[in-house]
Order: sequence, then structure tokens, then C-alpha cells
Amino acid sequence: MSIVREPAGLALRLAAARRLGEVLAGAHFVPLGPSEIADGRDRALANRLVTTALRRHGQLNLAIARLLERGLPPRAGSFEPVLRLALAQLLYLPELGDHSALFLAGEAIRRDRRAAHLGKLLNAVLRRAQAEAAALRQAPDAALFPEELAARWRSAYGAAALDGFATALRDGAPLDLVLKDGAPELPGAVPVFADVVRLADRDRRVEDLPGYAAGRWWVQDLAASLPARLLTLPAGSRIADLCAAPGGKTAQLVKAGHAVTAVESDAARLARLGDNLRRLGYRAELVEADARAFRPDAPFDGVLLDAPCSATGTFRRHPEVIWHRSQRDIAGRVALQRELLAAAWRLVKPGGTLVYCVCSLEAEEGEAQADWALSRLSDSRLLPVAPGELGPLAAAVTSRGFLRTHPALAVPGAPGGLDGFFAARFRRA
Ligand SMILES: C[S@@+](CC[C@H](N)C(=O)[O-])C[C@H]1O[C@@H](n2cnc3c(N)ncnc32)[C@H](O)[C@@H]1O
Repeated sequence: MSIVREPAGLALRLAAARRLGEVLAGAHFVPLGPSEIADGRDRALANRLVTTALRRHGQLNLAIARLLERGLPPRAGSFEPVLRLALAQLLYLPELGDHSALFLAGEAIRRDRRAAHLGKLLNAVLRRAQAEAAALRQAPDAALFPEELAARWRSAYGAAALDGFATALRDGAPLDLVLKDGAPELPGAVPVFADVVRLADRDRRVEDLPGYAAGRWWVQDLAASLPARLLTLPAGSRIADLCAAPGGKTAQLVKAGHAVTAVESDAARLARLGDNLRRLGYRAELVEADARAFRPDAPFDGVLLDAPCSATGTFRRHPEVIWHRSQRDIAGRVALQRELLAAAWRLVKPGGTLVYCVCSLEAEEGEAQADWALSRLSDSRLLPVAPGELGPLAAAVTSRGFLRTHPALAVPGAPGGLDGFFAARFRRA
């Protein structure tokens, strides 16, 4: 009896092609986990291939347009994700060698009955890409973002910032940890705030880092940790955290000594928030509800609304957002954010504080929503953020007292920038 072995490295490429195919079809990118690829090194390589293909999506579009004069074949199963992964390897991960890119792409296509007939085409395209690799790698940075988004960001943040966005997209995000108390021994950790450290090495599983099981810290991008700092109320205040899962901001508010009610409409995400708080040994009241319909017995001293948004500020970790979002999506979210803002405002007691935030780079979801809130929410006053409140990140405070971060903003003393975030603080007169 002869045993037919799969070529080494094929299984991880098939998993990578499946995941990339899902993302190309509109899904949110979730890294492949241990249940999908058990071996840690294979898993890391598969995720590296997918993230490189996603980060370089715009430049790969140019390569595909040049290599396939008639465009991508229609209804061709896994042809497109397999091609993109192989091109990403040939052009942007040359250290992995060309041979495995060509050979394993061919093997992957042979196993897909909807694409098997395209094996010859795939091979010809990849051989040409190999021959023209030097020219294909010259694709400009401008191609990294959809034209319309690049134009918006250039006019909002300037040409130099857009160059920084391109670097951030190519390089990805470092790993930021918020410390519960004191700093556990974390090799390579650079302090950026009294209770935030940054790790440049993000290839390690967070579960394997010292202090994870003991709940000594949680993962939260530096920018995402800023809005909760703006609720500068005395410890013991009653705070509602709206749209709360997975709970990074809830944890910060509990850590600050507040009595927190976390409201989240998605049951599975609320359960995850509960697990996260348990790991940290934190307690909060958890409410599964649409924040627009949440009717507590008494109003709150403070409300944090982290509204659902286009999430364009998270492109360093979710490069797909820049290709999935359209102007229409943004308009839809603007309407929901206004309903949530109005509902949040009803929960704030006289003299109380509301912090509104979004992880978006779009002014419609940020600065314009703050102006809408000031004109439409009765008795609302802007409570401007003072630059001194953000210590080393004073540059994130705008002249109007809003918080505005973006991936090209430097973090003093640490490598890498931040996610794009907007926050505004209001006081009820
Ligand atoms: C940007 S995420 C929040 C992140 C969270 N605040 C944190 O710091 O970890 C937005 C959350 O809002 C939830 N959500 C969306 N619409 C909602 C609504 N109408 N009411 C309550 N939660 C909502 C989503 O399920 C999602 O978990």
C-alpha cells in the first residue's frame, strides 16, 4: 500500500487561501487560529501570507492588471486568493523563495475543481511575475489605498501624513498592553504611558506572554486607551460604557475605581467581555441591550459611547477595511451614531459628562458628529481636552479640544504610530 503525502506547506497555503477568499468576499479579517492550523510556525506563516496580501492589496491590483490582460477569470473558485498569495510571496516576501510560491500555488489550484482548469494560466502568470518582479515591486505607495480614500485623507491630514499612513499599512501595528498594576517582566517592552507598554515583537501569541493567565494586563491599542482617560470623574462614579465589547474601555473604567455598567447588543461579544473581565479579576454590571433602548433606573455621572463606525482608523491591523468601506457605508453609520449619541445623552445626569469616540479617520464620523451633538443635544457644552491631559501625546489634542490620533502621529520614545481615533467630551449644563 502506498501512502500519498501532501506536499509540505500545502495545508497552510490552502487555509491561507480560504481565509483570504473570505476576506475578499467581504468578511472581517480574523487571523487563523490553532483550531485551523495546529502548528504554531505554520500558523504564523499562513497569517503572514494573508496579511501581506491584504496590506499590499492595492499594489497587487496593479500587478494583476499588468499580468492578466483580460482580467481575473470569472467564477474561478480559489484562483484569485491563490494568485494573490503567490504574488505577495514573490514580490514582498522574497526571503521565502520563489519555488514554493509557484509550486504550492499550482498544487492548491489542482485541488479546487472550480479552478483546476486554470492551472496553466496561473503558472504562466506567476512565471511572468517572477521575471518582471523588479518592475512590479516599483508599484507606487499611492496605490496602497483606494484613490478616493487617499484623496480624502490627503486633504484632511496632509501629504506627509499620507506617506506615514502608507508606512503604517506596510509595517502593521506594534502590540500595546495596558497594565493592571505594576509591570510584569515583558521582554522588549517600551513604556509609553504610566500604565501602557509597547512591544515591537507582535508575532508572539499574546496568551504566551508573561502575565496573561494571571490577568496582569490586556491588549489595547494606545489610541483606543485614550478616550476612557478623558472621563476624569472621581473614583466611585457611576459610568455607563455603551457599545462595550470586547471591553478594553470597560476594564480601564473599572481600573479607575468606577461603578461601571457595560451595555452591548451582541450576546456573543458581551460574553467575551465577561470572560475578559474575569481574567483580569474585574467586575462590572453587564447588560445585553441595544444602547438606544437601554432604560436604566437612574442617570449616570459619566457615559462613554464608543460608537460602531467605518473603523478606517484600524487599517494597520485590519487592512481590509480600506477596501470594504464605501461612502454609503459611512453615511449609514453616521445616522446610527447620531441615534446612539441622542440615546447616550438621555443617560447623562445634569452636570455629568459624555465622551463620544470612534476608531475612524473620517471627519463625518468624528469632528462633524461633535458639532451635530453641540447643536442638537439640549444643554450640551464642549468640555475641551487640555493637551496636558494626555501627557506625552499632547500632539493628539486639536485646537478645539478634540482628541484626534492617526497612524502617522509619532509616539514619543516608542516605535510605530497609533490607530486613528476621534473623541470629544461634553458636559451637561
Ligand atoms: C467599536 S466596538 C466597541 C469596542 C469597545 N468599546 C472596547 O473598547 O473594547 C463597537 C461595539 O458596539 C456594539 N454595538 C453596535 N451597535 C450597538 C447598539 N446599537 N447598542 C449596543 N451595542 C452596539 C458592537 O457589537 C461592538 O461590540
